[in-house]
Amino acid sequence: MAALKSLLILSIVATSFINIGFARHHKLPIVLIHGGAGDITDDRIEGKLKGVKLAAQIGYMTLTNGGSALDAVEEAVRSMELDENFNAGYGAVLTWDGEVEADASIMNGANLNAGCVSIVKNILHPISVARSVMEKSQHTYLAGEGVMRFAKDKGFEILPNGTLVTESAKKALENYKNQTVELKENHKYFGEPGTVGAVAIDAEGNIAASTSTGGLTGIGRIGDSSILGAGTYADNAMGGISATGHGETIMRYNLASRILHLMKFRGMSAQDASKTALEAMTKHFNETAGVITMDVFGDVGIYFTSKRMAWAYQRYNEIHFGLEKGDDYMEIIDQS
Ligand code: GLY
Repeated sequence: MAALKSLLILSIVATSFINIGFARHHKLPIVLIHGGAGDITDDRIEGKLKGVKLAAQIGYMTLTNGGSALDAVEEAVRSMELDENFNAGYGAVLTWDGEVEADASIMNGANLNAGCVSIVKNILHPISVARSVMEKSQHTYLAGEGVMRFAKDKGFEILPNGTLVTESAKKALENYKNQTVELKENHKYFGEPGTVGAVAIDAEGNIAASTSTGGLTGIGRIGDSSILGAGTYADNAMGGISATGHGETIMRYNLASRILHLMKFRGMSAQDASKTALEAMTKHFNETAGVITMDVFGDVGIYFTSKRMAWAYQRYNEIHFGLEKGDDYMEIIDQS
């Protein structure tokens, strides 16, 4: 009788653990996207929202078709690198000399492997070069001539000069050059915002993050997007983040790392941690940014101190999206 009672108690305890486990993971999988934070002009709103929603769907489909969280964040970012509404791949912001110099990074939260690249020229998908650095080199970060040689060696197509340069990027550079010295020094115009990023968590709780950007106008300038703990981070034990905004500030504040620490060690939600860190950063540096954050259970944080940030996520057949502060629109996707 005593043995039966113990068995019963054990089985109740085991059932509770299973239920807690299920309750905690019932929100998975999910793919969360941003398409850049900043002074997004009205004429760009429609294109950016369309692009982030498409990227969320592509990432989600990648997961549900058996791909990993890493595959999902790579595919989602690749779709935005093709879209001139974003500052990444085709349509990226130009250097002072009128070229695209891209930065990107990708991180696998399951084993903390990562690949980072900077000053990538004439390659359509810097995010895939970053993944290749992670998987096919003995290094974590390659830049400049080194990354170009590596990419060529791994079979990436090196496009003719000017292929990634759009009319709108040329116009933005022209406008930038015509700004007053004072405005330039105050970072008031560096081209259009639109760094892209993705964070995904699969049904088993594996997290991955990726970020890709053309950065800001400059030469040899590297922003936060390719820097782990600043613009990108993923750790299955902590969560995942991709940031966007003023890279010089984000890297000095180590933004991604601070948000994850607020979640892990102060018990904050993804939303509260994102808000707390971003507001403190903006107060200290008087510069703005935005983040997408995911915790280990698939709860999301979406926050920006910039004027606008395009974002979207897909969970089940629901796409949530927005761009202004307080937005949370929802559309049902027909998955049949
Ligand atoms: N956050 C993108 C950059 O500053 O390069």
